[in-house]
Amino acid sequence: MSLRFEERVRRKEKRREERMGLGVAALPLTFVAHVLAVVASILVVVWTVNFRGGLAFDSPNKSLIFNIHPVLIVIGLIVHGGEAIISYKALPLKKEVKKLIHLVFHAIALGAGIVGIYAAFKYHNESGIANLYSLHSWLGIGVIVLYAIQWIYGFVIFFYPGGSPAIRRESLPWHALFGLFVFVLAIGTASLGFLEKLTFLENSGLAKYGSEALLVNFTAITTILFGVFVVFSALADAPPAPAADDYAPI
Ligand code: HEM
Repeated sequence: MSLRFEERVRRKEKRREERMGLGVAALPLTFVAHVLAVVASILVVVWTVNFRGGLAFDSPNKSLIFNIHPVLIVIGLIVHGGEAIISYKALPLKKEVKKLIHLVFHAIALGAGIVGIYAAFKYHNESGIANLYSLHSWLGIGVIVLYAIQWIYGFVIFFYPGGSPAIRRESLPWHALFGLFVFVLAIGTASLGFLEKLTFLENSGLAKYGSEALLVNFTAITTILFGVFVVFSALADAPPAPAADDYAPI
């Protein structure tokens, strides 16, 4: 392939990236997202540790095994996944470095998501509860499978060994769209999970307007707001790249 053709493809790719912006600066939106990420992480830990007895992979108290599920999902899958998405918009670094941060954060999110789901299965199996009976669990499997496909495709096409310029150009908007779709689906699935767990607890006598019920609902709302600011940030305009980083293929 001629160098001039490659250069034309790259310029087109860059113009397409620039067209994706909303016309507002991403940076302030990413700050709000970071704050919401910290608050959601604190709330889910306070809930599971202070109200639900803590976390354990092995315990005669099987609820402690379950507690790993929301903690790893919120802090691992959702917070790290969201931060991976906005890292392109938040960090004044070279594109190559941002790409590495993007894929490592997504790898952490995917790994934590897998272990988090394993904890839910372990809890069910050791408590004699059936697996995969709820809409939440079906969507949950969908989320993790799509997340893995998205990560592997992104790695192969944009990182190693890397696709041709034409494949990268064609893939980029789909990668961004599909990534946002999977992220939003994860937020929706987590909301269902909070609702389901709180409903179980309320059916077993937890006060509907008590402090724990409020805490669970506020954790869910904070998680949803984090998702909103991640999506806004992703659609907003990135800060200008450092001068030396005029262009590097994604
Ligand atoms: C993207 C986020 C999430 C994913 C991908 C996910 C995935 C899953 C999966 C696959 C199961 C089925 C386990 C089995 O059948 O043995 C499950 C169960 C469960 N999850 Fe989640 N989960 C997520 C977030 C949450 C959150 C934040 C909570 C809040 C507490 C939660 C609460 C539950 C509950 C109560 C169960 C057991 C009941 C059921 O199977 O529906 N999940 N989750």
